[in-house]
Amino acid sequence: MSPPATTAPADLPAPPAPPPPRTPSPGPSVTEAFAALGTAAGRQDPYPHYEAIRAHGPVAELRPGRLVLTGYEDCDRALRDTRLLVQDAAGYDALSPGWRSHSSLRAFTSSMLYSNPPDHTRLRSVVNFAFTPPRIRELHAVIAEMTDKLLDRMARLGAGGAPVDLIAEFASRLPVAVISTMIGFAEEDQVWFRDMASTVAVSTDGFGDPAALERADRAMDEMTAYFTELIARRRREPRDDLVTLLADTHREHPDTLDRDELMGTLMVLLTAGFETTSFLIGHGVMLALERAAPAARLRTETDFAARYVEEILRYEPPVHVTSRWAAADTEVAGVPVPAGSRLTLVLAAANRDPRRYADPDRFDPDRTASRPLSFGAGGHFCLGAPLARLEAGIALPRLFARFPHLTATSAPVYRDRWVVRGLDTFPVAVAP
Ligand code: HEM
Repeated sequence: MSPPATTAPADLPAPPAPPPPRTPSPGPSVTEAFAALGTAAGRQDPYPHYEAIRAHGPVAELRPGRLVLTGYEDCDRALRDTRLLVQDAAGYDALSPGWRSHSSLRAFTSSMLYSNPPDHTRLRSVVNFAFTPPRIRELHAVIAEMTDKLLDRMARLGAGGAPVDLIAEFASRLPVAVISTMIGFAEEDQVWFRDMASTVAVSTDGFGDPAALERADRAMDEMTAYFTELIARRRREPRDDLVTLLADTHREHPDTLDRDELMGTLMVLLTAGFETTSFLIGHGVMLALERAAPAARLRTETDFAARYVEEILRYEPPVHVTSRWAAADTEVAGVPVPAGSRLTLVLAAANRDPRRYADPDRFDPDRTASRPLSFGAGGHFCLGAPLARLEAGIALPRLFARFPHLTATSAPVYRDRWVVRGLDTFPVAVAP
């Protein structure tokens, strides 16, 4: 997204006409708290607004047929409920006529992320095998090597104490290098891809900004031209990469993967993985520098990194929210959900549900059996979860081992986004 598109644009908070709250409460109404998430201040620190919504119950009604879920069990159940679907292309036709004229939106809606069974099952099965934990573990040495190369670069850029932007020079470069290698992009094109994919991913944060959507469409068109040329090249000279696999599948089994779906799969693999993982690494560094213990433990305790990564995912998840709609009557936590209802699932709030986690606002890497909902659950559970965990689990200990005196030179700055949320810049000094 970004996961890319983990939420339906029409689900983003719009300034609604506030109806009176259903349950009188001393704090803000659900509508007020939800609307606050659509403001710049709300995006900077959404957590108090999640608590204001939670005060109305784990399944709060925004208006009839429109629910906001902040409870852990409730989000988990909703993600696994086969009557609750993602918004697919047919759904968008009903919701937002005209969306098909935007190439950026068309690409994402041809991917597994925006599909329901049976299309979802078909699309996911094309690439699933390449992302299983055993296959991903095979990448360990390659990822360690890429990490060390980037750390060498950081050392050069930061020689003599010059500030280096951790996000631009490390956290965003590693995931894009890894996924680009898996897909089959040339190394020299990776930074271009990162910037293009970021521009396109903004389209999934809402229809709100027409200028941003136009930029996203232009970037998408440029990427489509690149993919088209690359696919033609791989047909002539096949390689052991995902572009070759997808191009072969499309040519030999067009019923399994049509051309739009081929483009959509490439786009979703590229965008779903890199911003999210970049934000995971960025948060990991920020949280370690704010506290004394984690950096030292990352350097010395071999099994600490995995627990540390799980707690970053829980405490500062890169994807804050996703959405579903009810294809048939169902219920969540005893609340009836009539067919046609739309649900906003606030994963970041579920991860701090006090019914699930003791002292949820405390960052504690020693939690056990944490299982945050940061990668979703059920049929759309993140395809790249093993890869993201491995990348962060390699990157963080190696970074702190290489630069034991790493310090922030100024405060990290959050990107002005809500759905996929993380640091835009984080200047650090690598040498004393
Ligand atoms: C920390 C990093 C990541 C986070 C927090 C994250 C989060 C998520 C979430 C929450 C979903 C489910 C959305 C929903 O159910 O509506 C998802 C789906 C997905 N993610 Fe990730 N993701 C990350 C990294 C990656 C990586 C590295 C890839 C690599 C290719 C990836 C590929 C995907 C794909 C393809 C889907 C769609 C799966 C489906 O619809 O069946 N993600 N991700």
